[in-house]
Amino acid sequence: MNHFLSMKDLSEHELLRLIKESEELKETGIEPINRKLFAANLFFEPSTRTKMSFTIAQRRLGLESLDFNSDTSSVQKGETIYDTARTFEALGASVLVIRQSEEEILQPLADGLSIPVINAGDGKGEHPSQSLLDLLTIYQEYKKFTGLNVAIIGDIKHSRVARSNAYALSTLGANVYLSSKPEWQDSTLRFPYISIDEAVDKCDVVMLLRVQHERHQENDIINKTEYLDSYGLTIDREKRMKEHAIILHPAPVNRGVEIADSLVESGKSRIFKQMENGVYARMAIIKTLLENRGIIDAEIIGERTALVGR
Ligand code: CP
Repeated sequence: MNHFLSMKDLSEHELLRLIKESEELKETGIEPINRKLFAANLFFEPSTRTKMSFTIAQRRLGLESLDFNSDTSSVQKGETIYDTARTFEALGASVLVIRQSEEEILQPLADGLSIPVINAGDGKGEHPSQSLLDLLTIYQEYKKFTGLNVAIIGDIKHSRVARSNAYALSTLGANVYLSSKPEWQDSTLRFPYISIDEAVDKCDVVMLLRVQHERHQENDIINKTEYLDSYGLTIDREKRMKEHAIILHPAPVNRGVEIADSLVESGKSRIFKQMENGVYARMAIIKTLLENRGIIDAEIIGERTALVGR
């Protein structure tokens, strides 16, 4: 693992190592790296959770985060994402975290750089760090993936979260089901489609997706109440879930659209736990990449001690 671009690139062994590393970082913490290293967060699309949790992850590891605002940067003068990335490499960044709207541009971009690149969301492509924190949250609950029934429900066609999770969960041996209104199905994902009613009856993990209004055409406009009743997690459907089953959602949440408002913080919901886990999953990704590249080693990262920053 030289970059972190797609869950398709990772074997079962690599995924489990990252999950275990995330868990260990959460439970035990780490001594900050005792050497000046910079991480650049290049976000060309809006973000709250991903950007902030990468920033906190970097600070907990002892890296200095370089913030970047595309609205006030030379992107406004026509500089490309590749030239922006090359610039941060030249300035001395040791790792780049990039969110942008185009699919399939990050691999060629990463191939042109000598430092690791992390995909923080590429349009409708993938969101692998979100997937890792989702995997961590599922693992904390069940301590296994093999044989778990996981339903990914909602705006599949426009969702990078759906794609990354379907690939990773299937690598880990879970049974992946998709559920969506017919217009938002994605035939490139070869997993069975089931109704949301079947999903709540049979699944251990009920993963809702945000309706991605910003990626829709005009004819995709929905009636929110009708959508919740037909395709969302209503209070009645939540009551039919298995006793041990959990609710996930990558957030931000459209309360009352894909999930009933009161279920966001209900007993089965792990939505805010997912956010908390995001910091440790992202620490694990950065640490693994820097170690694999020989940028840090055991000597400069120090021994694990009490949880840093808590
Ligand atoms: N889940 C997620 O990617 O949230 P943000 O868009 O706020 O980063």
